[in-house]
Amino acid sequence: MTRGRIAGTGSYLPARVLTNAELEARIDTSDIWIRERTGIAQRHIAAADETCSDLAEHAARAAIEAAGLNASDIDLIIVATSTPDQVFPSTACRLLERLGIPGGIPAFDLAAACSGFVYALDTANRFIRTGGASRALVIGAEVFSRILDWDDRGTCVLFGDGAGAVVLEATEAEGPSGAGILSTHLHADGRQEPLLNVPWGVGQGYEALADRRGCVTMRGNEVFRVAVRTLGNLVDETLAANGLERGDVDWLVPHQANIRIMAATARKLGLPMERMVSTVAEHGNTSAASIPLALDRAVRDGRIQRGELLLLEAFGAGFTWGSALVRY
Ligand code: UT7
Repeated sequence: MTRGRIAGTGSYLPARVLTNAELEARIDTSDIWIRERTGIAQRHIAAADETCSDLAEHAARAAIEAAGLNASDIDLIIVATSTPDQVFPSTACRLLERLGIPGGIPAFDLAAACSGFVYALDTANRFIRTGGASRALVIGAEVFSRILDWDDRGTCVLFGDGAGAVVLEATEAEGPSGAGILSTHLHADGRQEPLLNVPWGVGQGYEALADRRGCVTMRGNEVFRVAVRTLGNLVDETLAANGLERGDVDWLVPHQANIRIMAATARKLGLPMERMVSTVAEHGNTSAASIPLALDRAVRDGRIQRGELLLLEAFGAGFTWGSALVRY
């Protein structure tokens, strides 16, 4: 059976680090509150002239190199982002030009907020399984600092900028012991949109555009409770679909929104905390970029080894949520 395997990973973080201490000096918050409630100690912030495609390009080049390929080998690009450079062309199309990939291959952006990378991985895998692509570049890239209200302590302390990428390559593999994506599970529910949104967009008409700022609004505590419950159910769904028991997964690579949500998912999976890849302390919540950033970290520092079983999972605005079970 043809399916996608992760051939290489890459990531990029802007140079500027914004610490909790700096936020403490600007707004009514404290380092202790942020660390205890979220696990975040710092986040990276893009420079004024750095865009989503800049971050994505760095991560993409690193992933292509790690896969031992050239940019011209790529035959599909999907960029998961809620903070693209512009309305169109897509960030993915801009990357074609940046990476020097001749025209002709499919390239598009995908919006599923913090679940965007899992959605993009699933989509690329479907292209590969049906013969539509053989070496897909799947990227999560965000400049959330651009859509934050820096006076809203309930949101501005949480997010950061960054990009992560994988090259998903076609492989022939059978069963759960073979390399590649074993299963994906995607969901969405639009009924609770007001709990987490950016209530602004170019399609809303001139008056709305003039009146409202494009910033994240969140009823954090309510989102928290839905996220923990939903991710618990997602773990059950993923394990059951693959005939697995608690403790069978080698690594949890979760969306990095809040250490308490991540720990709850690890407990549900029967994994000790050291088997969960956590970058939330250093990166904050980078939305669609957080999973590939964490994955690249653990691959490059040697924690994640070939043949191990990884669970990638995310929950975000929409609500959207999803998982990918991957034999690395
Ligand atoms: O990635 C997409 C999905 N997003 C998430 O998964 C985020 C989910 N939510 C969360 O991570 C947490 O709910 C937060 C970190 C956002 C908030 O933590 P919490 O433990 O749920 O706090 P809370 O919202 O219940 O607020 C507790 C108190 C409030 O004060 P009062 O009303 O008790 O006096 C807040 O005003 O903490 C206050 N507070 C802050 N205090 C200091 C809220 N933000 C801050 C802050 N610094 N930055």
